[in-house]
Amino acid sequence: MAGLRLHEKKALMALRSFDGKASVEDVAEKSGLAHATVMRAALTLSERNLVKIHERKWNVATLNEEGEDYAQYGLPERRLLRALLRLGGEASVDEAVREAGLAAEIVPIALGWLKRKNWGVIKGKKCMLNVKVEPSLGADEKLLATMFEKRSITIEDLSRELKQALETLRKRNLVELEEKVHRELELTEEGWRTAKKGLEITEEVTQLTPELITSGRWRNVKITKFDVAAPGPVVYPGKMHPLQQIIQRAREIFLEMGFMEIRGPLVETAFWNFDALFQPQDHPAREMMDTFYLAYPQKGRLPPQRLVEAVAKTHEDGWITGSKGWRYKWSHEEAKRLVLRTHTTAETIKYLATHRKPPIKVFSVDRVYRNEQVTYKHLAEFHQIEGIVADKNVTLRDLMGTLKTFYMKFGLEKIEFWPSYFPYTEPSAQVVAYHPKLERWIELGGMGMFRPEVLAPMRIKCPVLAWGTGLERLAMIELGLDDVRMLYANSLGWLRRTPLCQ
Ligand code: PHE
Repeated sequence: MAGLRLHEKKALMALRSFDGKASVEDVAEKSGLAHATVMRAALTLSERNLVKIHERKWNVATLNEEGEDYAQYGLPERRLLRALLRLGGEASVDEAVREAGLAAEIVPIALGWLKRKNWGVIKGKKCMLNVKVEPSLGADEKLLATMFEKRSITIEDLSRELKQALETLRKRNLVELEEKVHRELELTEEGWRTAKKGLEITEEVTQLTPELITSGRWRNVKITKFDVAAPGPVVYPGKMHPLQQIIQRAREIFLEMGFMEIRGPLVETAFWNFDALFQPQDHPAREMMDTFYLAYPQKGRLPPQRLVEAVAKTHEDGWITGSKGWRYKWSHEEAKRLVLRTHTTAETIKYLATHRKPPIKVFSVDRVYRNEQVTYKHLAEFHQIEGIVADKNVTLRDLMGTLKTFYMKFGLEKIEFWPSYFPYTEPSAQVVAYHPKLERWIELGGMGMFRPEVLAPMRIKCPVLAWGTGLERLAMIELGLDDVRMLYANSLGWLRRTPLCQ
């Protein structure tokens, strides 16, 4: 028959010699092929309807070393029981253990099971039997003896009672379970027809070697055809975590758009996290509810006094900005408090304090912390995609265009900007994106133009566009997740299934 390989032919011929029916082991022995090779050949032959594979599965149990030990010397509780009987039914635990010759590590087991089987009780350091004569062997002990004698038993053949006994022994960690499979091959009618014709067995090679060529032997061998459509084994190569891939992409897109990356520390003073952004010191977001304050050290250092005073004045009465300020007494001590930064806007404003010359285009993709209830859309530790553009004559339109371009490069088309409020921007907006799986718009983050109250203390004269949006929310859309916690769950199945970014 055309297309059969050497191994398949050999297996077929071996089956013929067994009258068309034999176990895989027998075929392997007869044909001289390895067991696995016969199985592979059998699969192909069965696909071609030349062979039928009959499979029988059953489960066997064998005793492990400890089990064998108990089978020979008796279960620890039985040994303790016998010792106590010899001692007149009552003795101190130490004495009974000595009499029974139990090793220290099995004493608790012996005592526990003595009580469980209701053979005796332990009162303080004393051990007393509930029985006068020795109770007969339980199902667990009988099974133990049978298993020792027979080496292994078939679970399916056990009675209900013995199955239960086996379960007890398994829980006591005395047995090993194993599934056995027996496979028998049988020629089909078509298989018989093929086998009867007799098959020409020519040597097959999978590789053309120099030896074959120089010796001329290549003329007589058959070169195996590869089945390129055959399914191969699934492999799970190491790869970057999907979230890391998205961070990388976000970075690359900003770099592509002419931005420079900046980074700052996770721990910031309240000054940079809040005050420099014109958030009053009694702003609700500062409260313990949302912000993680450091217990030790509690305070950090403030920047040069000129800047601090300008921020203080702006908060108190608006300073030179034309604003009335928040009208309260600004506290240096409050501004010194250290926090886990609640947003990366702390880094962009800090950058502006020392880089005043436009044009400025910087971004950061980094971690922030908020004391939030963790839910399907909230995490307490997450990433923000932050950035600013500072230049003469830039407007809100430029900001919308920049963000639209960024998300478009990410592949997100459905982006909208909705009005919003932040104490440090005017106008302010929120960026929302459509989540196809949740079938609704979700908030990605905030944006706006820094207010004069923010810019004046930094001595910035040109308009500054700013935004800070959530990375995990973006990842949810990108990866089709309806629960943000999946990103940190380390679920191997999900990690394996999630393809690499394009
Ligand atoms: N910092 C804001 C937040 O964390 C986002 C934002 C950044 C808003 C810059 C306006 C300007 O939600």
